[in-house]
Amino acid sequence: MFKEFNKTELKKLKKLLNVYEIGMFAFLKKINNINDRTNSIYNNNLIEHIKWRLKTPASIAQKLAKLDLELTADNAKMNIKDTAGIRIICPFSKDIHSLVRALDSVPEWNVIEKEDYISNPKTSGYRSFHLIVEVPVYYTYQQEIIPIEVQLRTTAMDFWASIEHKVRYKYREHIPKHLTDELVTCADRIAELDNRMFLIHDIVSLIN
Ligand code: GTP
Ligand code: MG
Repeated sequence: MFKEFNKTELKKLKKLLNVYEIGMFAFLKKINNINDRTNSIYNNNLIEHIKWRLKTPASIAQKLAKLDLELTADNAKMNIKDTAGIRIICPFSKDIHSLVRALDSVPEWNVIEKEDYISNPKTSGYRSFHLIVEVPVYYTYQQEIIPIEVQLRTTAMDFWASIEHKVRYKYREHIPKHLTDELVTCADRIAELDNRMFLIHDIVSLIN
């Protein structure tokens, strides 16, 4: 059965989502500043583009129900770490690692989780670097700490993930074996291509 937040909890949740939104935009601004700085100092563009999303109350309710938790704003705050999600698309894997180091070095941010699915891809073939970063949000004379899920990927990894997501959605997790095999092969080829393209980029950058 699909459950919804009651009126009081929904009101609390909407306030909470507002705090998440403020935190996410402050985070995005700083990330863009970091990119602008590396661009002007090293002439190196770390970021292709950024996508972001805030979970809707319906999707938060679904996740809490899956976790068998009561639908309250407090439970959402304590148990869901990907309410605010940011996906950063980078040209190369090397840029992902530079960005991870940059995120680690911001004093007011706290990286509480790191999952390197690039060195250790999922069995599906999925590759990305995931982080949960706690960031402070200053609003109406108060400070709150909120988590943000950050996914870092190359353009090629993002291309693969969006196709695989569509396949997964269509087959509702029951993907035929020939398709899962093909997706794993494509993921491996994409990783190899990423490396080869980086080599070309590296060689070309040595030319004045
Ligand atoms: P949830 O946070 O509840 O989703 O579980 P988790 O923390 O175990 O998941 P994980 O951190 O591994 O992945 C979270 C997000 O990464 C998902 O919501 C997707 O956006 C992305 N993701 C993870 N695995 C895959 C995959 O195999 N294929 C695709 N397309 N995306 C994936
Ligand atoms: Mg997660």
